Amino acid sequence: MPSRRRPASIAPPYVSEKRPSEGSYWSRFPQTRYLGSKRKLLPILAETLARLEFDTALDAFCGTASVAYLFKCLGKNVVANDALVSNAIGARALLAHERPAVSGRLPELCRGLPDPTAEAGFIETTFHDIFYEAQENRFLDQLLPRLHALPAPGRDMALYGLFQACLAKRPYNLFHRANVKMRRADVRRSFGNKKTWDTPFLDLMTRACEEAESAIFKTDKQCIVTCKDALDIDPTPFDLVYLDPPYVSSKGAAVDYLDYYHFLEGLARPEGWAERILTRYKHKPLRGRGQNPWSDPSQITAQLELAIDHFAGRILVISYRSDGIPSIFDIEAMLKRRGRRVWAVDTGRYTYALSRNRSSCEILLIGL
Ligand SMILES: C[S@@+](CC[C@H](N)C(=O)[O-])C[C@H]1O[C@@H](n2cnc3c(N)ncnc32)[C@H](O)[C@@H]1O
Repeated sequence: MPSRRRPASIAPPYVSEKRPSEGSYWSRFPQTRYLGSKRKLLPILAETLARLEFDTALDAFCGTASVAYLFKCLGKNVVANDALVSNAIGARALLAHERPAVSGRLPELCRGLPDPTAEAGFIETTFHDIFYEAQENRFLDQLLPRLHALPAPGRDMALYGLFQACLAKRPYNLFHRANVKMRRADVRRSFGNKKTWDTPFLDLMTRACEEAESAIFKTDKQCIVTCKDALDIDPTPFDLVYLDPPYVSSKGAAVDYLDYYHFLEGLARPEGWAERILTRYKHKPLRGRGQNPWSDPSQITAQLELAIDHFAGRILVISYRSDGIPSIFDIEAMLKRRGRRVWAVDTGRYTYALSRNRSSCEILLIGL
């Protein structure tokens, strides 16, 4: 049972009075359709982080890399890490120091596609009537080798654009259900926009790449991307570690990111895709689905304790929702048991005090 005690220390133990500079560059971070993205929280995160002294930060569950991008904007060395390859590719594209100018090359890369005379490829045959229309699957089959053949970093940017286009063309922006038929039904929708679903891949990719390219800038600091389990990362180089793990609700509902985004993982790593598919499910997810301890209500608390111990000695900044498992009060207690001072920020209200009246809000817990 999550405890209901009010956290004792909610006043910010300011380490420094520094504030982020005006004209915040992080507002250029592209709009995304990723579950749990912290893009909207970047202003409060920036204000919070500016009060902490550190040079090298790890964004251990980086997702879209929005927070890693913020670290870059704040002039820090940063490592962005995520267990999903598609997220690591996106992070590499967005944290690059040079603009690869891919958006202008997309029409040439897509020329002649889809070729109706070619044989049906892997996506067209495997994912028939699951996520996209047949012509769209054919387009993906034929474009993918062209994108993977590009030299890096253009390849990362082009694939990033493709992933964003794929998300935009999906009901709910997810791949957890075989529901292409929803796109054809003539009903009122609360889960997406038919006009966007029917927009060609090329247009959506161009939009996504243009937005991402305009966010790229150069610093003299290091921006590195890794793709591994967060607990396999060597903690030595970091002064500060940001943890934004999958959220498990108090009712035990969890997001299994591999299940929700498996199709992008296939596009990111097409070699051996067929062998990795769990064919018993209609939506053809990948092996590993349902096995992440971070998405398991019975394991997430222990997992978070392991992470806190793994990153001992570093400033910890943890994002979590107030109504999750473990509760914010449990996480605070974990940190205090290890001798840390704890500072809690309710990002919904931009205050430094927690309320128990609201059902669900994003909290930052800083363990010093
Ligand atoms: C809440 S999201 C992070 C959102 C991110 N902060 C953003 O702004 O987009 C959690 C992320 O953890 C990743 N993840 C899940 N299990 C992981 C693990 N064991 N190690 C590293 N990353 C993991 C998921 O792929 C997902 O992208």
